[in-house]
Amino acid sequence: MKVKVLVLGRLLQSLHEKLVEHAEIEYVDREAPLAQDMLMAHLKGKEAVISEPLDTISSELMDACPSLKLISNRAVGFDNVNLMQATQRSIVVTNTPGVLDAATADLAMALLLACARRICEADRYVRQGKWTGFKSDLMLGPDLFGKTAGIIGIGRIGQAFAQRARAFGLKLVYTRNAPRDEQDDKFKDEFHAQRVELEELLQRADFISIHCPLNSQTRHLIGQAELDRMKPECILINTARGAIIDQQALVSHLVQRRIYAAGLDVFENEPEVPQQLLELDNVVLLPHIGSACFETRRRMSELAVDAVIAAFSGSRPEHVVNADAWNQERWDLITKEHQTATSK
Ligand code: DGY
Repeated sequence: MKVKVLVLGRLLQSLHEKLVEHAEIEYVDREAPLAQDMLMAHLKGKEAVISEPLDTISSELMDACPSLKLISNRAVGFDNVNLMQATQRSIVVTNTPGVLDAATADLAMALLLACARRICEADRYVRQGKWTGFKSDLMLGPDLFGKTAGIIGIGRIGQAFAQRARAFGLKLVYTRNAPRDEQDDKFKDEFHAQRVELEELLQRADFISIHCPLNSQTRHLIGQAELDRMKPECILINTARGAIIDQQALVSHLVQRRIYAAGLDVFENEPEVPQQLLELDNVVLLPHIGSACFETRRRMSELAVDAVIAAFSGSRPEHVVNADAWNQERWDLITKEHQTATSK
């Protein structure tokens, strides 16, 4: 008996072919977040789901779908899944780390450059026919070279951003949510990066890029008080998760020009973008495309598909985020049940 899988979004043909050998697939290619009752209707009777940041996998959903055993989240972030409740129900949750670091760091750098050099604003200026000729004071912005970038969270994506920032001649400070260890020596040697407390980073950095995960400790990590500490010329970049910043506080800082600019790929209630942000020229707004590169998205999908195939073949998937939920004996049994049903 094949595994019943709900795929939210699409799969490349080659990956569809790989998965369909093991699974009976239902696709729901939604454009916007599905209401929970709709999601519930599709998820009922499924044993696995391939989900994305758009899909909220709540405890109510898990309760309504008792056959669900695996949530293969096609993203590195998994804040859209109620992890604690999944673990309590022995639902295994997997993600797709390690394959999107470069793409996401590239986009963070692109946002920094776009904000500093006013690229989107300048493009609009030309399109609107406002350009009358070279002017030595037209569209000036801050130099990057020699300035200080603050990296909040120096995991894989933060390190990839550090590499890029060094190549642009930036000095680096960073925060990290772990005890000081040899990693900090590595960052010092490799990136000449200095570890500091958040308060110091906020005060020293000319540009700040957020690269930490969203969880209960990082929700609204950057609020009114933190924004107040930033330099007036600071550019804030967020390619991680919208809710790490108190969006309302950020909007009012930007409206009052209390920081220079912001480059945002993520928002607190996606796909909602506050009207005030849309009206500002000191922001660059993107529709959550940090990892949106052909090869990167293919690798993410591959990991998501492989997690389903591995689990239902009785092997622990490569990237389980709730290790406590994986019980080898239980999965041996699940695999056996599937094999027995197939051979009947
Ligand atoms: C992730 O992987 O968490 C990104 O936000 C989506 O690619």
